[in-house]
Amino acid sequence: MKGLILSGGTGTRLRPLTFTSAKQLLPVANRPILCFAIDALRDVGIHDIGIVVGTTAPEVKNTLGDGSSFGIQVTYLHQSEPLGLAHAVSLARPFLGEEPFVMMLGDNVIHGGFQHAMKQFMQTRVDALVLTGPVDDPQHFGIVQLQGDRIVRLVEKPSRDLGNLALCGVYFFNPVIHAAIRAITPSPRGELEITDAVQWLVDHHFSVSHTVVTSWWKDTGRPNDLLEANRLLLEDLTPDIQGSIDHESVITGPIQVGSGTTIRKSTLRGPISIGHNVHIENAYIGPYTSIGDDVTIHGTDVEYSVILSGCIIDQAPRLDQCLLGRYVEIVRTTRNPRSVRMVLGDQSICEWS
Ligand code: DAU
Repeated sequence: MKGLILSGGTGTRLRPLTFTSAKQLLPVANRPILCFAIDALRDVGIHDIGIVVGTTAPEVKNTLGDGSSFGIQVTYLHQSEPLGLAHAVSLARPFLGEEPFVMMLGDNVIHGGFQHAMKQFMQTRVDALVLTGPVDDPQHFGIVQLQGDRIVRLVEKPSRDLGNLALCGVYFFNPVIHAAIRAITPSPRGELEITDAVQWLVDHHFSVSHTVVTSWWKDTGRPNDLLEANRLLLEDLTPDIQGSIDHESVITGPIQVGSGTTIRKSTLRGPISIGHNVHIENAYIGPYTSIGDDVTIHGTDVEYSVILSGCIIDQAPRLDQCLLGRYVEIVRTTRNPRSVRMVLGDQSICEWS
């Protein structure tokens, strides 16, 4: 069985980070989100994986290469424009052939993978099996309506109340899905929706079932969701200290510290993941924080944040719930006149109290 990961799209909801990075490559717990989708497919025995890429193809290819370092074989499939999830499947048709396949959205994380769903799909031999889970904000998801345990209706981003059981971004399909995709037309937002293709299967009496995810799952498409995914993944952190921590520092809870990293006169309360060649001094780093490589933090409190590589934070106010892109500088200056001087990219967000 083959796997298909969708890693195209525009990532508009994560701007400005996605002006310079593919949203699927943003790190949670110091690992690109996309790697969790690869783990999940590999863990159910799928090694032949097609990856749909768009304008950020070079960056995705640079990260995954031919897949051998992840124990998989990658075929890149180019989508010239993000015309929808079903469009992405249709362009992958030559790669997928006449076999069943699993599709996963490259910006979603399913905790613990989906072994149980794979087993159910293989045993029941249905035409489609989708993973579902309850959400608080159904208007942002594809929503499934059931009669008993049978799916009767699927609506993409409903504007009225259709319940809160969402599609979680993992779909098992038999090749009949290709006929469904050929039969549907673009939605009002101009995309060929996979949700509509599955509805077509329901309407034409093909067997479509669902299974509710047993643990947590996250669509990391918005900043708060990315921070939450980071928090949830750090809950499973295995402590590993490679760098050096001086005797004046106080560490509690699980932390990971990469090689070349130095921590001096600081208090760290895990779970925290810190990359390589990071320098932390006179600082407090609180729970659920991930810090990328080559970051410097002096005299600042940081908590529940994701800080990408190369940032410099020096004598800054307390940082909480922050998502900092690469090479961001937040530093106190003694220069006059006393003021806040900012160089912010398009759509940056800066809040203080
Ligand atoms: O997170 C679950 C939700 O994901 C489902 O509940 C929805 O039914 C499903 O449509 C999807 O909604 P999103 O609005 O989150 O989809 P998004 O545009 O973020 O795209 C999901 C992934 O697919 C993302 O990694 C980008 C990629 N993509 C997207 C489009 C539209 C492509 O590779 N090509 C595309 O044309």
